[in-house]
Amino acid sequence: MTNQIHLAPSILSADFSQLGNQVEEALAAGADTIHVDVMDGHFVPNITIGPFIVRAIRPIVRRFNALIDVHLMIEQPERYLADFAHAGADILTVHVETCPHLHRTVEAIRELGVRPGVTLNPATPLVALEEILPYVDMALVMSVNPGFGGQSYIPTSTDKIRRLRAMLDAIGSTAELEVDGGIKPDNAAEIVAAGATILVAGSAIFGGPHSIADNIHDFRNALAPELH
Ligand code: DX5
Ligand code: ZN
Repeated sequence: MTNQIHLAPSILSADFSQLGNQVEEALAAGADTIHVDVMDGHFVPNITIGPFIVRAIRPIVRRFNALIDVHLMIEQPERYLADFAHAGADILTVHVETCPHLHRTVEAIRELGVRPGVTLNPATPLVALEEILPYVDMALVMSVNPGFGGQSYIPTSTDKIRRLRAMLDAIGSTAELEVDGGIKPDNAAEIVAAGATILVAGSAIFGGPHSIADNIHDFRNALAPELH
């Protein structure tokens, strides 16, 4: 594994009345990717945010040379790819469960100048990713059922990460391996050891025990020296 380890705070757990300040605090503390959870009330039960929030945080994220990582938990995601790309998404991740023509969707993301990512629900087997892995820049293991922040990490996810790491290595892929859901400082090292390169954390960063910056420092300490 050659990739650096990145921490991607999920703004789902941020205080939206303070969104700009909270994103800035996370970036200033060393996060280099901001994770944006888009939910439609159909694919998942919750409804969250659209491209305008991506557009709103873009200038702050750009100032820190960080990336906007958009996780689309929506049906027919191809309808909204251009909107998110134009709003400032650097990575667009779609669920295999929502894309009958996944290769076409991944190519559409790339044609928009955005890095394509793919993900799958906890009960969806990794084989569903096998054919698309050569075409993506990121593969995301959901370690909770998507829809809400603050859920517990599903323990079997660690083995799934290990098996996905082996699949990526077997094809010589340098794609990022992101993990999302229930990640805290006390399980972060196990997840990285299994092969993850990007850790998403929402409630542990924006709703954790200390300030946003100190919550990020707790991750850095848990992962030192891997975390950059
Ligand atoms: C869950 C979202 C996650 C969520 C993670 O559907 O995709 O990104 O915000 O939140 P925590 O870290 O609280 O599990
Ligand atoms: Zn997410």
